Amino acid sequence: MTELSFLHRYEPATQPGRPPLLLLHGTGGDENDLIPLGRMAAPGFALLSPRGKVLEGGAARFFRRLAEGVFDEADVRFRANELADFIAEAREAYGLEAPVAVGFSNGANIAAAMLLLRPEALAGAALLRAMVPLSEQPRADLSGKRVLMISGAMDPIIPAENSARLAALLASSGADVQHETLPTGHGLSQTDLALLLKWLA
Ligand code: MLT
Repeated sequence: MTELSFLHRYEPATQPGRPPLLLLHGTGGDENDLIPLGRMAAPGFALLSPRGKVLEGGAARFFRRLAEGVFDEADVRFRANELADFIAEAREAYGLEAPVAVGFSNGANIAAAMLLLRPEALAGAALLRAMVPLSEQPRADLSGKRVLMISGAMDPIIPAENSARLAALLASSGADVQHETLPTGHGLSQTDLALLLKWLA
């Protein structure tokens, strides 16, 4: 592991010509969590997996929240910029093109915030159980970026209205958005993996 501004894991690509994946874990996860998902969904892609720097009762996250689903938006902005700066560092250190984010829950929310605040940081994003990260929307130009959103119809944390609003916001900013809603809750299912595999291919 190279010394960069986030604790992270990095696995180099074994297949040329594929974008690196930026793996962003959910609350209480770490840099190891999504490595198996990344390997299964994108065999041969480089994997870059940082650990969120914010601690909530010992659980690592990518930004502070005031309550479940209520975000400290100043921290969202600060942390999205900090993570985008880390991506730039890692691209330089490892010789990478702009990554495609694969984020789950809190990791999906910081990826959505980066798309809106620092669109140059990501080539695209798969947002698994994401919600609108900021109440005031920056105007981002997301043209040319593909976004996969997968929501759960029975997700107790994210109302359907909220994920639909995020999908509409990203699409109105120019992203090519595919939004799928599965008959499931907040946790990931085999169908998430299958959709992710297909989208990444
Ligand atoms: C968040 O805090 O980002 C969302 O509430 C999802 C979560 O991490 O539980």
